[in-house]
Amino acid sequence: MIVCQCCAISDREIHAAVDWMRTADPDTIITPGKVYHALGKRADCGGCMPQFLAQMEKCDTLGVPMNLRGLNRMKRRDRMHEG
Ligand code: FES
Repeated sequence: MIVCQCCAISDREIHAAVDWMRTADPDTIITPGKVYHALGKRADCGGCMPQFLAQMEKCDTLGVPMNLRGLNRMKRRDRMHEG
């Protein structure tokens, strides 16, 4: 199924790109922009983004690496103790 009409990106290509990126770097945070880049394309109108994100979320390998979880919470707590 074609997800992005502007760039003719299919759901299979999105899944393959996410799996490839996770295999290549287990600690990376995968974004739609990185998926476009991995596929050698650039988003145009952005109209596909909700469906594009939905397809990314279906990938088992998309999750944020355990060592990067909760960083925002930690930063907020650190700020409370400054000054
Ligand atoms: S439909 Fe994907 S960028 Fe336009």
